[in-house]
Amino acid sequence: MDSGYVKIAEKSEIPIGKMKKFVSHGKEILIANVNGNFYAICNVCTHERGDLSQGTLEGIIVTCPKHKSKFDVTSGKVVSGPKIVLFHPKIADEPSFSVKTENDDILIKI
Ligand code: FES
Repeated sequence: MDSGYVKIAEKSEIPIGKMKKFVSHGKEILIANVNGNFYAICNVCTHERGDLSQGTLEGIIVTCPKHKSKFDVTSGKVVSGPKIVLFHPKIADEPSFSVKTENDDILIKI
């Protein structure tokens, strides 16, 4: 195993088109399965700490349940900011983590 990668989940825990929150090394991490490829970003919304795992995943886009900010799960980049009437704050991209799989294991570089 390459140094720096830690097992975070098993593939069978996250069906295609689904996402799930895991906690590792004190970080909340969102793992998303997009057509059999796994991606990992921080699970905590950079706006007001919404729980992204409780939002929705459509293709590669995760939408925060709190104010509907959208992030690209493949990169963590903001696609669109929060939907708050008359107020459109700029928010930061999510940190993203390098992912690899070994057999049924999903590993990420923390
Ligand atoms: S907390 Fe996520 S959009 Fe506001």
